[in-house]
Amino acid sequence: MKERIEKLGAQFNEALSGITDTEALENLRLQFMSKKGYISELMKELGKVPNEQKKEVGQTINTFKQEITELFEKKKDELIRLQEEILIQGAESYDESLPTEDPTGSYHPITLVQRELEDIFESMGFDIEDYTEVVTDFECFEAVNIPPFHPARDMQDTYYLSTANQLLKSHTSAAQNAILRKYGDALKKDGRPIRAVFPGRCFRNEAVDASHDNTFFQMEGMMVDKDISISNLIYFMKTMLSEVFGREVTVRLRPGFFPFVEPGFELDIKCLNCGGTGCPSCGNSGWLELCPCGMIHPNVLKLGGINTDEDPFEYTGFAFGLGLTRLAMMKYGVKDIRTFNDGDLSALSQFTSR
Ligand code: PHE
Repeated sequence: MKERIEKLGAQFNEALSGITDTEALENLRLQFMSKKGYISELMKELGKVPNEQKKEVGQTINTFKQEITELFEKKKDELIRLQEEILIQGAESYDESLPTEDPTGSYHPITLVQRELEDIFESMGFDIEDYTEVVTDFECFEAVNIPPFHPARDMQDTYYLSTANQLLKSHTSAAQNAILRKYGDALKKDGRPIRAVFPGRCFRNEAVDASHDNTFFQMEGMMVDKDISISNLIYFMKTMLSEVFGREVTVRLRPGFFPFVEPGFELDIKCLNCGGTGCPSCGNSGWLELCPCGMIHPNVLKLGGINTDEDPFEYTGFAFGLGLTRLAMMKYGVKDIRTFNDGDLSALSQFTSR
């Protein structure tokens, strides 16, 4: 058994070192970690191991699993970082060292991207909503189907205040409950669909480097009405992203897990650089990972007062989360995410003069 684990380890390492795109990485992960993967096979074989060795072999399998999970995460970060760097190289470039010309001030690049997106959403009939940065545990997690102690909380460690169960919101999904409550009456009484986007500053307890910051921006959107289906989601996302990028984009969905959507997806667009044939910008996969989304989970709609237990599917809807900071990096060719928050005016004033 130990030999087999060692062999699998070597096989994993060899495969990992040859991987250059996120899709191949996901395939490798499935090979090892899915229900029919090698780790499950090992667990099954554990049953046949003599009792006195079970504990030790079980521990070896667990350590192995932990090790490959860590390696997998590290590689994933590396690939995403690489993708961003290459995308950025092709973007509008700016010179951080240019002197500030306009003493009257200028808009922050994230504000500019946010406004551009707000115009697009407004033209599609969306309400634009603002939301607080300090939220309750209920808003940020429980209302979006992440109960206390749910493992999904580990992905979004944030900053907790010492009073009243409050924290700095780790994602814009923290506003979902309030939006559903605010627009729910008009939906039910007048049949006015809920269409809202809510940009906001988010916080996570992250180690800071060129592509991770503890403070960043997202723009989330929701649409809820009768008979909203995945087709609506796909059509909408395609139209919206074509507007954002100023040309027709091709989209595809892959399964993705977020507790507040079911089914949940990672939405990719066909690489704008090579049109899908594969190039360095897309790590040769032909696709860029852009926006998590999915059909709003029945529990979220229920907690938002939209549906009742009698008819949990009376209204349905979709939600998506755009990374505003990432879009701003892509658009303006900003290589280091820390530029946005470090208050260096000569860097930040170059995107527009007022
Ligand atoms: N809130 C999620 C995150 O920050 C993104 C998301 C939003 C996913 C809406 C699905 C739907 O990771």
